[in-house]
Amino acid sequence: MAKKFIIEGGRYLKGEIRVRGAKNAVTKQMVASLLAPGKSVLQNVPEIGDVEITKQILASIGCKIEHDPEAGILSIDAANLSTHRVPEEYSGLNRIPILLAGVLMHRFGAAEIPMMGGCDIGPRPVDFHIEGLRSLGADIRYEDGVYRFSAKRLTGARITLPFPSVGATENLMMAAATAKGTTEIRNAAIEPEIVDLALFLQSMGAIITQETDRTWIIQGVETLHAAQHRVINDRIEAASFAVSAIATRGDVIIKGADQLHMLTFLNWLRKAGGEFETVEGGIRFHGVQSKLKPIAVETGVHPGLMTDWQQPMVILLTQAEGMSVIHETVYENRFGYAETLNRMGARIQLYSECLGGRDCRFRNSGHRHSAVIMGPTPLKGAKIEIPDLRAGFSYLVAAVLAQGKTEISGVKYIERGYDRVVEKFQALGVPISVVEE
Ligand code: EPZ
Repeated sequence: MAKKFIIEGGRYLKGEIRVRGAKNAVTKQMVASLLAPGKSVLQNVPEIGDVEITKQILASIGCKIEHDPEAGILSIDAANLSTHRVPEEYSGLNRIPILLAGVLMHRFGAAEIPMMGGCDIGPRPVDFHIEGLRSLGADIRYEDGVYRFSAKRLTGARITLPFPSVGATENLMMAAATAKGTTEIRNAAIEPEIVDLALFLQSMGAIITQETDRTWIIQGVETLHAAQHRVINDRIEAASFAVSAIATRGDVIIKGADQLHMLTFLNWLRKAGGEFETVEGGIRFHGVQSKLKPIAVETGVHPGLMTDWQQPMVILLTQAEGMSVIHETVYENRFGYAETLNRMGARIQLYSECLGGRDCRFRNSGHRHSAVIMGPTPLKGAKIEIPDLRAGFSYLVAAVLAQGKTEISGVKYIERGYDRVVEKFQALGVPISVVEE
C-alpha cells in the first residue's frame, strides 16, 4: 500500500539528530564485497530503501545476508554465488545493477545485467561504464535490453573518462582491483564516497593510489579477501537537515555531520547568511538570527557544490531577500520539482542558458538547467507528488515552512535514501504523520 506524509507547517526545527552512513557509499560497498569469496561486514549502515533493494539483488545471485538495522550492521557472505545473471526485476529500481559488471566478471568470467534505472533526472546513460570496461578487455554485447559482459580476466589499461562520473569511476575501480596489471583512471570522480570505496577495497587487499589530478591508479591483485568497514556518514542527509534548520529559523545539532566533507556546502551556506558552529561530534546550525541573502551558485563534481545539495538550497533561497541563481552542471534535468514549489508560493524561473557561471556541457542542449529564485516568498500548504529522491526531501522542508497542511505522495522516493526520516523530523518538533493512500 502506498503511503503519504501529512505535515502541519509553519514550524521551525529544534533539537538534535544523528546522520548515518551514506546511501551513495554503502550500496557500492555492498557490491564490492562480492569481489571476495567470504563474509564482509559493514557498519553504520542506514535504514533506507536502496539498502533493501541492493540486499535483494545480492541475495538473488547467491549472497547470504544478515542485517541488524538498529545497530546498522550488515554482513554479506559472498562465498557461494549462484549466478552471473542479475534478474530482470531489478532493472529500473536503482543504479546498482550496472556496478556488478566487473565484480561478476571477476567471479564468473561473465555478467548479465538488465538495463538500469534510478531517479528520473535525465537520461543517465552508461556509455562511460561500457567503454571503460571494454578498455579493460571485456567483450560487451547489448541484446534484448540486457548487457552481456565476458572476460576471463580483465587487463589493466589507461582510461580517461569524458566526465568525472561517480558511477563509472566506482565501476572501473572495482573491476580494476583484480585485473591483471595496472589501471589508471584519469578525469575520474573523487567524491568522498569514492575515497571510502577505495578504503574498503584497500582493507580487502587492493592497492589503490589517489594522485593529485583526478587520477586513480589501481595495481591489480589476483584475489581479495573479506573485510570490515565503517561506512562514511551521509553528507547529503546532513546538508539537507542543515538547510532545513536555517530555512525554518530553527536550531539543530547534527551529530555525524562532517565538516571535512561539507567544506564547500558550508561556505555557500555562510554566504547565504546561514549560521553554524562545530560542536563535539557534529555541527550546530542555527537560523534564528539569520538574515538570509541571495547567492549565485553552480553545482559541480567534487570538490564543487554537490548536485544533491541543490534542491534543499533552493528552498533556503526562496526565503532569502533578493534574486538568487543556481546553475546545475551535473544533470540536465534536475529542476523538475520547481513547478510544485511555485504552486506553493515560490517564485522560481527556469532557463536553458548557463546563468551565473561558466558555460557547461548543457549550453546548447535546450535543457532548462539554470534557475532564478526570487525571495522571500511565504509558502502555503498543498497536495504534492514527489518526482525524485532529492526533490522529495526539499518538498518536506517546504512543507515544514509552509503555512497550513501539506500532503506529500510518492514517499517511497524519500524512503529510498533517507534514514528514518519521519522519526527525525518528529524529533525536531515537526508534526508529521504517515497515512496509507
Ligand atoms: C551518483 O550517480 C549518485 N548516485 C547521484 O545521486 C549523484 O547525484 C551523482 O552520482 C553525482 O554526484 C549514486 O551514487 C547511486 P554520474 P551516478 O555517473 O553515478 C553522465 C541521489 O539522489 N554520465 O556521476 O549515476 C550522467 O548522465 C543520486 O542520491 C554519462 O553521460 O552519476 C550525468 O550527467 C541522484 N555517461 C553525469 O555524467 C555515463 O556512462 C554524472 O553522472 C555515466 C554518467
